Amino acid sequence: AEALRVALAGLGTVGSGVIRVLEANRALIERRAGRAIEVVAVSARDRTKDRGVDISRFEWIDDTVALADVGADVVVELVGGADGPALALARATLGRGKAFVTANKAMLAHHGLELAEAAEKAGVPLKFEAAVAGGIPVIKGLREGAAANEIARVQGILNGTCNFILSKMEAEGRDFGDVLAEAQALGYAEADPSFDIDGVDAAHKLSILASLSFGTRPAFDDVAIRGIRQILAGDIAEAAALGYRIRLIGQAELGQGGLFQRVQPQLVPQDHPLAHVTGSTNAVVAEGNFVGRLLFQGAGAGDGPTASAVIADLIDIARGEAGPPFAMPVTALADAGPADTGAR
Ligand code: NDP
Ligand code: HSE
Repeated sequence: AEALRVALAGLGTVGSGVIRVLEANRALIERRAGRAIEVVAVSARDRTKDRGVDISRFEWIDDTVALADVGADVVVELVGGADGPALALARATLGRGKAFVTANKAMLAHHGLELAEAAEKAGVPLKFEAAVAGGIPVIKGLREGAAANEIARVQGILNGTCNFILSKMEAEGRDFGDVLAEAQALGYAEADPSFDIDGVDAAHKLSILASLSFGTRPAFDDVAIRGIRQILAGDIAEAAALGYRIRLIGQAELGQGGLFQRVQPQLVPQDHPLAHVTGSTNAVVAEGNFVGRLLFQGAGAGDGPTASAVIADLIDIARGEAGPPFAMPVTALADAGPADTGAR
């Protein structure tokens, strides 16, 4: 079979990781995909930057949005940002009837519905496993694994940077800013880390999970958000003395009153599974009416885990196994309306 040809936008933590993992596991990936997966063209801001991977054999495209026009079957967007070149590239790619893979939860939270409509209209895959909880196959788990179930509630630890900060402050007594700098050096944080620590990144992910879980339209604007900026070492110590740990929790429920979505730091009892999620690990708990409680846990950020999720999407596309982006056609998604969260 002919190779699946990939155009890759963004060569930072995740983009370079994709090149590294594709090379390291080339033979295995080809066997699983049924054909080779070949990067043919790449784009980023700076052509000369040392990225620790050899990009000399790929065609370099200066104008990132023009990647939609190169001879590729699928475009992978790992640039980031809700709008700007990422969105222009998504629109151009789907508009030309090509498959699109992204890790960009900000763009999906704001424009996911429009992009899903464009993908459905063109009859091409739009895949985003890496956008929620890094390496954990939670999109696949909810979209396919739990497809026979009604899901009433979904909650979890959705931001690796915040969990890394909270658990290091707790276990090692370290300073907030110092641990944030380490999370940035490890490639966990967003380009603007205020998205992480103010809870916005977790809210982007929560709005995607809620849509997949409940069959509702993504509704990022209705998420009540509070981040971890105001958490002090003393708060963590006081919580520990009372038998709790502080975790940034995203929680969504669909009830009579509408769709409830909230991100906030919460006290978690020390014997609760979420209290034992440390470092950049994420965890998602979903409750289905027949399957019961599902717990997804694993690396929520970083190059290897996130690249693994991106490549899993490419393997699905290579096999011709991509379903609708939000688990059902866009026209079937309900508009639940926001429940009163009592906070804003
Ligand atoms: P980085 O900041 O490490 O990389 C971003 C890449 O995009 C860089 O190669 C950069 O170019 C390029 N870029 C930035 N702005 C432009 C622009 N205007 N035009 C063209 N190229 C541009 O980000 P990450 O790899 O960490 O994240 C990429 C995406 O993946 C984001 O959407 C992020 O939210 C998401 N994500 C990240 C995870 C992680 O753990 N890091 C986990 C899950 C999702 P250059 O290198 O030349 O500066
Ligand atoms: N900045 C994000 C986090 C990356 O820390 O969880 C993974 O989406």
